[in-house]
Amino acid sequence: MKILAIETSCDETAIAILSVKGLLKKKFSVEAHQVASQIELHRKYGGVFPMMAKREHSRNIIPLFLETLTEAGLLGSLVSKSPWKLNFQVKITKMLEREPEMLVQFLEEIPKIDRPNIDRIAVTVGPGLEPALWVGINFAKALSLAWKIPLVPVNHMEGHVLSVLIPKNEKEFTLTKGSFRLPALSLLVSGGHTEIVLMKKIGAYAVVGQTRDDAAGEAFDKVARMMELPYPGGPEISRLAEHARSTGVTASFAFPRPMLGSGDFDFSFSGLKTSVLYHLRDMKKSGEELTENAKGEIALAFEDAVIDVLVKKTMAAAKKYGAKSIIAGGGVSANKHLAETLTAAARQLDIAAIFPAKELTTDNAIMIGLAGYFGTSVPLDSQKLTARGTMPL
Ligand code: KG4
Ligand code: ZN
Repeated sequence: MKILAIETSCDETAIAILSVKGLLKKKFSVEAHQVASQIELHRKYGGVFPMMAKREHSRNIIPLFLETLTEAGLLGSLVSKSPWKLNFQVKITKMLEREPEMLVQFLEEIPKIDRPNIDRIAVTVGPGLEPALWVGINFAKALSLAWKIPLVPVNHMEGHVLSVLIPKNEKEFTLTKGSFRLPALSLLVSGGHTEIVLMKKIGAYAVVGQTRDDAAGEAFDKVARMMELPYPGGPEISRLAEHARSTGVTASFAFPRPMLGSGDFDFSFSGLKTSVLYHLRDMKKSGEELTENAKGEIALAFEDAVIDVLVKKTMAAAKKYGAKSIIAGGGVSANKHLAETLTAAARQLDIAAIFPAKELTTDNAIMIGLAGYFGTSVPLDSQKLTARGTMPL
């Protein structure tokens, strides 16, 4: 089986082609994997604006798709064929009228391509930025209609959960990654989400805790902005904090650990962000300069606070639900201090903490293809497929 996977939930346009072989022991292979990141564009504006993200996806998705087909060896020679019938062109035009950049390219390029040997199209339908999600969904719908390929809607968060099962740099893999055991407890931390998810088996998930306000990555980004560091702020804060740690700097103050004693597995990061704001304001009032060292100290104290809460809550949930492994996912799971702290805490319970390969911590389409393999297809030409910004897992 060959799966075409499409991801446009935030600021990466990503397309992959996975192939799955074998009867009992399935062998997965990544035939192609392309990502067009919008990070440089959003950096200029200090964050992701949904309508800007949508326009970029709409411009980039077809060139990226052609590259993906080429990488997978599925693109034959592009020759002009007899044009689509007018009523079919009208149908596609209606379907893509909100993505004019994509529409023009779709009508120009897709009729030239021989239908590739693809058995299903997996597409992220939520959660994420709705205008951005719609680009991937409408592209998938239009392709599905043109080539009569079934569509499988995918929850982006399931993709992040499964991303730990995809090994680094190995084109072919099975789903028996070393220390991965079920039930697994998954800590999903990104710019839009902070959730603890209990996974009983692939496809059976329960969210046992989540943020009540800002996501962990969002808190990193906002605190970075307060210190005039570029977007995305997570890697910047983490770099400053690592530098401080490695040079023996300790913070002379501590930020609060919000909701640590709440007795549940929920999070709240907006108060912590405000504490940093007050700290910066007090510094300014007393004429203290925001030197590189002062930034390092704040980054260190902030990162310690966030990770302390993330790790303690995750471990408490792991104990409560008898988790046999801990898995992490999402952009913040690239954080070194989180990896070290969570790994050490899991070891005390005699279980492993598993992290995705670094390039798969951020949004990608391989994880969407994998989730799509386990998903169920919707009828061809389905009008039911809609973007769901706050889709639960
Ligand atoms: O999963 P992701 O690429 O996109 C979504 O939000 O879906 O996550 C991006 C987030 C950003 O908030 C970024 O600042 C954060 O992940 N991030 C980090 C690190 N690398 C990325 N946060 C903390 N430490 C890092 N090393
Ligand atoms: Zn994500």
